[in-house]
Amino acid sequence: MKKGFIFDLDGVIVDTAKYHFLAWKKLANDIGIDFTETQNEQLKGVSRVKSLEKILSWGNKTIPEDEFMELMAKKNNDYLSYIAKMDESEILPDVPKVLNYLKKEDQPISLGSASKNARQILKKVNLISDFNAVVDGNDVSKAKPDPEVFLNAAKLLEITPENCIVFEDSLAGVQAANNANMISIGIGDKDVLKEADYVFSDFTEISIAFLKELIEK
Ligand code: BG6
Ligand code: MG
Repeated sequence: MKKGFIFDLDGVIVDTAKYHFLAWKKLANDIGIDFTETQNEQLKGVSRVKSLEKILSWGNKTIPEDEFMELMAKKNNDYLSYIAKMDESEILPDVPKVLNYLKKEDQPISLGSASKNARQILKKVNLISDFNAVVDGNDVSKAKPDPEVFLNAAKLLEITPENCIVFEDSLAGVQAANNANMISIGIGDKDVLKEADYVFSDFTEISIAFLKELIEK
């Protein structure tokens, strides 16, 4: 039996969620807005445009279009300076264990990320060749929780949505997987990700037996 295994990138495969947070926090503070780590959960999985819209709304601020574009570019430049130094050491624990097992079992694997920097990061950490398909922020018009990103990935893998399994660290992403009628596996905090079908703190908690079950289900 072949299942489609779809991985989010930031906060699932690599620990870049912290870099997004640092870059948004700096930008927000520069324009006189502050936000908490709890509010930051709402930025996870969400596109660059939507993230800035949220931050501005938290600060009750409206700005002209050109300034909006400038701020997005500024945040991305700052973010790029963090990821410039990335290498394999930033792959999260036991991600290779899971990818290697799925490859051994000949299971199709796709990325399903909101980030426009996803391909670059996968190359930096040397994982790009593990993926049969990559769908990222350049390929979609609707942000998670819309299921578009995952439905596109399923189409590329030629697996029906019901037979796809999504690994996600964000609430928006878990909702997107659920909206796509896929099995959702939350990676992170049980309270934040309670809408997922399963939640694990990280991949070290995911056993080969569990993966086998998912394939055979
Ligand atoms: C998601 C991150 O994967 O990508 C979000 O969780 C981020 O925090 C989004 O805003 C867009 O990323 P980028 O790299 O295109 O700005
Ligand atoms: Mg994520």
